[in-house]
Amino acid sequence: MIAVAKKARENSYSPYSKFEVGAALITGSGTIFGGCNVENASYGATVCAERTAVGNAIVNGERNPVAMVIITDADHPIAPCGICRQVLAEFCDDIPILLIDGSGNRRLTSLIELLPLQFSGEDF
Ligand code: THU
Repeated sequence: MIAVAKKARENSYSPYSKFEVGAALITGSGTIFGGCNVENASYGATVCAERTAVGNAIVNGERNPVAMVIITDADHPIAPCGICRQVLAEFCDDIPILLIDGSGNRRLTSLIELLPLQFSGEDF
């Protein structure tokens, strides 16, 4: 997963922030899907690496996330933004999420830790 996330990060399209993010999502079938951030001149149209990884899985018929890795070259492990947490919550209640910074430092967290009291389609 780390190798896939690193490789995906190489394809980051981030000319505005210069902040390259790579993600890898493994699903129940054991398949690993990469993602990278894709920015836009209209900044709000930017899509994060985590969400492109989820989309990559969906496009390939997989809807069962099991774990995610997120990698940047920042000086500390970077956690997914709120929108990405919510998008992950659409497809799972909880998964481990490994955050890796530019020095290889790791922080293991989880979706439940990052997004407690989730709002989901079962709430209405
Ligand atoms: N970004 C991600 O890809 N994932 C996150 O969880 C946080 C932010 C991207 C979006 C944008 O391309 C750049 O990082 C700076 O915000």
